[in-house]
Amino acid sequence: MSFSSVDIENGTLHIGHCIEVLESLPPESVQTCITSPPYWQVKDYNIKDGVEWDDWEGVLSYEPTVWQYIKNLTAVFKSVFRVLRHDGTLWLNMGDTYLKRTEQGLIGGLTDSGHNVRGNLAMLPWSLAIYMASELWCLRRDVIWHRPNAIPESVTNRPVKDFEYLFMFTKSRKGYYYDWEGVREPQAPSSIERQKRGYKKRQEYLGDKRKAPRSMKAYYDQRKNDPSYYRRRRSVWSIPVSGLNNDSSHIRHHAAFPEALVEICVKASSREGDVVLDPFLGSGTTAIVSEKLNRKWIGIDVNPEYCVLSAERIRKAAGEKGAQ
Ligand SMILES: C[S@@+](CC[C@H](N)C(=O)[O-])C[C@H]1O[C@@H](n2cnc3c(N)ncnc32)[C@H](O)[C@@H]1O
Repeated sequence: MSFSSVDIENGTLHIGHCIEVLESLPPESVQTCITSPPYWQVKDYNIKDGVEWDDWEGVLSYEPTVWQYIKNLTAVFKSVFRVLRHDGTLWLNMGDTYLKRTEQGLIGGLTDSGHNVRGNLAMLPWSLAIYMASELWCLRRDVIWHRPNAIPESVTNRPVKDFEYLFMFTKSRKGYYYDWEGVREPQAPSSIERQKRGYKKRQEYLGDKRKAPRSMKAYYDQRKNDPSYYRRRRSVWSIPVSGLNNDSSHIRHHAAFPEALVEICVKASSREGDVVLDPFLGSGTTAIVSEKLNRKWIGIDVNPEYCVLSAERIRKAAGEKGAQ
C-alpha cells in the first residue's frame, strides 16, 4: 500500500493506512494526538486493503478476536508514541460492543476455561488501556464522555448505554504539558447558589448595604469574571453527540466527534502553533478544531470518501474563520 497527501490550510491530510503514514513522520514532531479508532466489527468503512501485521493479515477493526484487535491497536499507538513530543499527550476515545460468539474471546483468556463468553461486554476500552499502560504509556485519567442525547436502545434487561471512555495517556508520569487554567469549567450550580447565600449573609452581617449586589443576577454576572467562579476540570464531560446533519455534503460519517469534546483536549494539551494529530480523522473534526484554535494538524484516514468529506469541512471552517 502507499498513501497520498494534500496540504490544506494549516495542516496535511494523508489518505492511507495510519501505520504506514505514521512510520513516515519524524519522531517527536507532534504535541498531542486526539483520536477514535474504528469500532471493532461494527462499521463497514469500505476499506479494501489490508496491511501485514506481525502475525495476522487483514483489515484493522475486522480482526476475528478481541485479542487480535487490541494487539493491532497497541501497534498503532506504539507508532503514535514515537511521533509524540516528550511532553505530549494522547486522548483516546473508544467504543465497546458485545461478544456475539464465544471464539471471539475475552482478553483475560476466559475462553480457555470453557466458559461461554457470548453476550459479555467485550471490555475493549479497558483491555486496550491495560495493554498500552503496561507496555509503554502512562494512563493519567479515564474521562467519561457522557452523551445526553445517546441513541435510544430498546433493551429491557440492562441499562441503556449513554457514555464512552476517553483515555488521557502521556509519555511520562511528570513534565507533560497540561494547561489546567485553559480548560477550567464553571462551578456546579449548587456551589454557586451556596456562595450566593454566603455572600448575602456576609453583607448583612457587615451591614454594608452599598456593596451588596442589586440583584442575584447582577451578582451572578459579576462572578463570571472572577476566577473563583471556575473550578478545575472534572472527569465526567457531558457533551451531546453532534452528527453531521447540518453539513451540506452528500457524504455522511456516523461516528463524528463533537467539536466541544475535541476543543477541551486541544486546549488542555497544546499551545497555538503546536501540531495536533488524528490518525483516524474520519469527518475531520480534530483538524477543524485545530484550525479554529490556530494549531497545525496532521490527519490520516484510509477511506478516500471520508477524506473528501473532511477536506471540504476543513476548508469551510478555515474560510469561516478567515471571514470573521
Ligand atoms: C471512529 S471513526 C473516527 C471519527 C472521527 N473521530 C470524526 O470526528 O469524524 C474511525 C475512522 O478510522 C478510519 N480508519 C479505519 N481504519 C483505518 C486505518 N487502518 N488507517 C487510517 N484510518 C482508518 C475510518 O475510515 C473512520 O473514518
